[in-house]
Amino acid sequence: MEYVPGLQGIPATQSKISFLDGQQGILTYRGYPIVELAKHSTFEEAAWVLINGELPNAEQLACFDAELRANRRVKYNVRDIMKILPIDGHPMEALQTCVASLGMFYPGQERMTANGISADSEFVEQMIVKILASMATLVAMWEHIRRGDDPVQPRTDLTYAENFLYMMNEREPDPVESRIMDACLVLHAEHTINASTFAALVCGSTLAPPNLVVASAIGTLAGPLHGGANQRVLNMLDEIGSVEKVSDWLDQRLASKQVVWGFGHREYKVKDPRADILQGLLEDLRVHRKGYLSPLYDIACELERCAEQRLAPKGIYPNVDFYSGLLYEALGIPRDQFTPIFAISRTAGWLAHWKEQISHNRIFRPTQVYDGAPVRAYSPMAAR
Ligand code: ACO
Repeated sequence: MEYVPGLQGIPATQSKISFLDGQQGILTYRGYPIVELAKHSTFEEAAWVLINGELPNAEQLACFDAELRANRRVKYNVRDIMKILPIDGHPMEALQTCVASLGMFYPGQERMTANGISADSEFVEQMIVKILASMATLVAMWEHIRRGDDPVQPRTDLTYAENFLYMMNEREPDPVESRIMDACLVLHAEHTINASTFAALVCGSTLAPPNLVVASAIGTLAGPLHGGANQRVLNMLDEIGSVEKVSDWLDQRLASKQVVWGFGHREYKVKDPRADILQGLLEDLRVHRKGYLSPLYDIACELERCAEQRLAPKGIYPNVDFYSGLLYEALGIPRDQFTPIFAISRTAGWLAHWKEQISHNRIFRPTQVYDGAPVRAYSPMAAR
């Protein structure tokens, strides 16, 4: 038996949900190119595609959208849970805590094995909508509660992206901001069997309730090698300080064997197609704001240019986390909320994989290569 660190190249599941070609920079959801979805779909439509496998017709989309809108409010007691959390705790921890608690407010675990072994499909659909709809509310609620303010109640007359920005910033976004938010949510919604989706699958395969499946995935997404890289990118751009300092900074960074946040990917050996689209959205925003964009964007572009000579030969290019934070900051979102926004969006993919997993479930139970001590005699305390 050969142990492969990080399971590189080992298929851990079979799935119809998304596909990526890391040599050509292609990503599709259910066969539809991400470029098309980011341009033409709302997050609601992309989530439907992921969860149900086909583009919805007008009636299906309207029905799904109406259910999401109707489920935006969360139980009042979740607010009380948030109130006792430390205000300087990371929002990913607050989010995980609250998502983990949702099953206590919306019980139904017994319906996971309704017919002896398979889950009750009505419960599966209800929980997908409840969890997906709640995510944006939870992230925005924590933003206000940690500031000592009352949360802004969700509205049902706004799209998912509009309502999220409204709840965060207490003002309705303009159409360009909403379109950018929507595209960001579409782009982050799914990405084959990445670390957090794998965590969701493992948890889901035990037939644990779906809120705990999502809580497992949130914990996994939080790490800096995965979704947690996006907030670190902005701190890194701040640390670099100016366009002129980029080249020397990069040399020192690589000489000290530190990673450049927002670069590199296990699967992509070219620039992540999502990074290209996000960069395009930044350019759109620059036009919309009459030429103004954060000076950090110029530093980021220069870093990408310098890295072309030093990292690209090893197949290391900007990933999805490199440009996303610049967009979120431009939309008025605090840096430590970037990864929770990623989680809002990725919940669509996690739940699509959960639904697929439990439709033909077998518990994950891999094996290991043991290289510890052989069987040996126990030594009593007095003899040690
Ligand atoms: N900066 C500098 N060098 C890098 C980077 C980087 N960002 N990424 C990889 N490398 C180098 C490694 O040092 C290693 O070099 P070596 O062969 O000389 O030792 C080589 O490239 C291979 O790197 P691994 O870490 O083995 O690649 P792996 O596939 O295991 O890791 C990962 C991928 C974790 C994404 C890595 O590229 C990384 O740490 N990137 C920075 C963190 C980041 O941006 N994460 C977000 C990824 S996207 C997402 O999860 C949503």
